[in-house]
Amino acid sequence: MGKTILTAVGITKVFPGMKALDKVDFDLRAGEVHILVGENGAGKSTLAKVILGVYKQDEGEVFFEGEKMEVSGTKDAIAKGIVAVYQEFTLIPYLSVAQNIFLNREFRTKLGFIDHKKMESEAEALLKSLNCEYINIKAPVKQLSVAEQQMVEIAKALSYKPRVIIFDEPTSALSDREAESLFAQIHNLKKKGIGIVYVSHRMEEFPKIGDRITVLRDGKKIATIGINDCTDHELITMMVGRDVSQVYVRTQNEHKGEALRTEDLSDYSGKVKGVSIVLNRGEIVGIAGLVGSGRTELAQLIYGINPIKTGKVYVNGREMMPKSPVNAVKHGIGLVSEDRKKYGLALGEAIAFNAISVSLKKIFPKFFMNKRKIYDIAKQNVDQLRIVTTSVHKQCKFLSGGNQQKVVLAKWLNFNPQIIIFDEPTRGIDVGAKMEIYKLMDRLAAEGKAILMISSELPEVIGMSDRIYVMHEGRMVDECKRGEFTAEQIGSRMLGLGVGGR
Ligand SMILES: Nc1ncnc2c1ncn2[C@@H]1O[C@H](COP(=O)(O)OP(=O)(O)OP(=O)(O)O)[C@@H](O)[C@H]1O
Ligand SMILES: [Mg+2]
Repeated sequence: MGKTILTAVGITKVFPGMKALDKVDFDLRAGEVHILVGENGAGKSTLAKVILGVYKQDEGEVFFEGEKMEVSGTKDAIAKGIVAVYQEFTLIPYLSVAQNIFLNREFRTKLGFIDHKKMESEAEALLKSLNCEYINIKAPVKQLSVAEQQMVEIAKALSYKPRVIIFDEPTSALSDREAESLFAQIHNLKKKGIGIVYVSHRMEEFPKIGDRITVLRDGKKIATIGINDCTDHELITMMVGRDVSQVYVRTQNEHKGEALRTEDLSDYSGKVKGVSIVLNRGEIVGIAGLVGSGRTELAQLIYGINPIKTGKVYVNGREMMPKSPVNAVKHGIGLVSEDRKKYGLALGEAIAFNAISVSLKKIFPKFFMNKRKIYDIAKQNVDQLRIVTTSVHKQCKFLSGGNQQKVVLAKWLNFNPQIIIFDEPTRGIDVGAKMEIYKLMDRLAAEGKAILMISSELPEVIGMSDRIYVMHEGRMVDECKRGEFTAEQIGSRMLGLGVGGR
């Protein structure tokens, strides 16, 4: 490993009412991947933003190759070749992929015009290096899936030819295949002597790419260790500050009749092709499949976001036509979405507002709103889900990524729907909180709710589901019961292969 290129010494950052970072030391060597872990709200993104100059620290200093960095904006960081792929997307929806990648640094022709050709060929080359040739560089970014947008963000960071890259949860929106492309690229960058800070909650990734790990907890640095010098168990204990044993919790319970059924469901985009599924009360049903296999689109059909082309949906045995989300909600269906910005949260509003937004009528059937009651409910949510915040009045945009996801969950818990579709429910959520969510799902099922869970994390699908459907290119290709399959079998079915990889 190379010499130290970046050092942060004694960084303290205070936000109103809380210390997000407390005298944190951190260093990065050339050619290493330094992983940053910790629970939601531990201060990971804040540390990244201090290094980049997005936030001004209250105490401490950052040095790049021994030289003190200026603490006014990101200019100095960019000049020194320090770039980031942020947790929240920064792309401009109506601009094309190529325009986004080279935003404000457009190539010019000799006559001073924007050189679209050059931008497009450079953008193409960057995406190719990430195995993403399939992304249309001329398309407006808003037409891309979340995973594709993430790959564009990564391409954009690479386009700066950086010396240091900070990745803040880059794979939380990616499928395994795309993640592998990113890892291959990270290995190339390492060989070139580029230093990488890598923030992630996915522990299975660490040994694939990491060299050292730093654990943050409540804004404090707990330890920096070599990747091979600790077990997963030790790492989790350091992160959450207590000993944790069992991850997946499932109580056996009886299934009490059919809650939801689809018959031969197809959509207009061709991403869902004749899908029939059954979901019973008291049951957790997982849908496994690669990103792009049509899982999210299926959820969107049932929830009335996209129109149904052919096929039928039955709720409690009665046919219903999901015309809109409002309509789906009336039929007792809730969707905890993977895209919390688009469908899940009003970021400029307070936690309390978001938490009760869908259930206002349910809580106050007589139109008299009682603020006290709203705050009490939100407080309960904050305690139960362990949302890290100074108060329930805080605007959601000031919460860490994982804590925003928890507010989306709170919203649906309060509404108490009979059928809940979880689309990537634990994306960006730390290990401790993941376990809380698994417990919650188990409890909801025990109460007789019907739960449909879409997840790219196979261990999670296998650990939690009573039954699993496997989707491949828009079709349901397999169905299996708990205990009757292995991860390998499901994995090969997801790829469209026969059982056992045939
Ligand atoms: N701009 C801000 N204003 C006020 N508080 C903030 C702001 N940004 C972050 N915080 C608070 O600082 C703490 C640390 O947040 P940070 O985003 O660094 O956490 P994180 O470790 O990245 O968590 P996650 O895993 O959920 O992304 C949180 O409690 C958060 O609410
Ligand atoms: Mg974060």
